[in-house]
Amino acid sequence: MSLLIKGGEIVTGTEHYIADIYCEHERITHIDRYIEAPAGAEVINASGKYVFPGFIDPHVHIYLPFMGTFSKDTYETASKAALVGGTTTLIEMVCPSREMSAAQGFRLWQEQAAGKSACDYTFHMGVTRFDDENASQLREIVAAGISSFKIFLAYKGAFGIDDAELYQTLKLAKELGVIVTAHCENETLVAERQKELLATGKTGPEQHHESRPPRVEAEGVHHLMTFAELTGAHVYIVHLSCDEALREALAARHRGVNVWIETLIQYLVLDKTDTERPEFEGSKFVMSPPLRDKSNQPVLWNGLSSGEIQTVATDHAPFDFKTQKPMGRDDFTKIPNGIPSLEDRVNLLYTHGVKAGRLDLHTFVNVASTNAAKTFGLFPRKGAIQIGADADLVIYDPEYRGTISAKTQTMNVDYSAFEGWEIEGRPSVVTVRGEVAVREGKFVGTIGRGKLLAREATHS
Ligand code: URP
Ligand code: ZN
Ligand code: ZN
Repeated sequence: MSLLIKGGEIVTGTEHYIADIYCEHERITHIDRYIEAPAGAEVINASGKYVFPGFIDPHVHIYLPFMGTFSKDTYETASKAALVGGTTTLIEMVCPSREMSAAQGFRLWQEQAAGKSACDYTFHMGVTRFDDENASQLREIVAAGISSFKIFLAYKGAFGIDDAELYQTLKLAKELGVIVTAHCENETLVAERQKELLATGKTGPEQHHESRPPRVEAEGVHHLMTFAELTGAHVYIVHLSCDEALREALAARHRGVNVWIETLIQYLVLDKTDTERPEFEGSKFVMSPPLRDKSNQPVLWNGLSSGEIQTVATDHAPFDFKTQKPMGRDDFTKIPNGIPSLEDRVNLLYTHGVKAGRLDLHTFVNVASTNAAKTFGLFPRKGAIQIGADADLVIYDPEYRGTISAKTQTMNVDYSAFEGWEIEGRPSVVTVRGEVAVREGKFVGTIGRGKLLAREATHS
């Protein structure tokens, strides 16, 4: 099967031009001003539309046993939602419990995805315990093509590791050329502040951000930076939410620490007042690090446009409002953490970034696709429009106008944090290695077509 995309405005991280793209055997094989349609090729008219490289979400949770429950999506529902929203590659966090070995965790997460994903995917391997057994299993997992780790400096007693484990994990990563992605919050401060708030009867969702103020995150970043500096490991801060944490990361970068920074679409468009909504509605907006004061948003947007921040992810972690968020009705520390947004990231970033004049189109492509591909060993197979690249393409209609609603979303969760929000633009066609997976907002792809992507360890 071959595909010819005609007359679209191709936009990559560096280029912008009108041309036809021909795709065969899953890859882009020809790009030219005019390409005659070969017999049997499907032809898609993309005139008046952008053609972007498939977007990459470098931080999602699909299978997530967490806080006494499980996140709602499966690979089937999540990959469909990703594709409808223009995301063609997912990087999921493997989060084994501390009782599980690394090999058991890796196997379990692979089983969730195998044969069930409609888009390509890979994993960041969670290191939730470091010992000799896990270290040798981690070596094998890296050799199998998983070239990034995930660590948590939060979630005491669950996924969090102690400082000795942190040091050993970073040393192993440095040796193997693996980049370490890290959730940065000081878990002791969080636990102590949670206790204090609850003891004074402060139990509602609006207390969540009081328990984890910006300095708690900044301290986590500072802590990671110290360990990265002393080990020489390459590190990637996930879900950076605020100015104070950004300053710590930039100060470290200026003194030579190899650090990449991710923010989330949620922090760019939502803020802590959302957790104050009445009738427990605020619980829909509980995630960690928490939504911040609005004054942080221009800092994050500027960080993206200046290149200080490399990626915009979702940290997609869907928990139902009706049945799961109420686990913390009388105690905010028990509200399952997460704000689903896998389907909405690209359209919100386009609407509030590009259309609002905060990001140019190249930066948009870089932060939503190409930078993640480069950082995590997927470029130029992914994140690029060039001959030989996988034919993962998003034909994007900038004239589309629509409204986000839980009633029409593909994600398997009963609410939207962006209910009623208008979007200006959406993917009209999305391809996965040359096969059309979305037409006019509807999934038409193939469950099971998605492959586990093997990646080289390049961070030595
Ligand atoms: O609140 C969040 N972020 N939930 C998902 C788990 C994590 O910390 O990434
Ligand atoms: Zn996290
Ligand atoms: Zn996460």
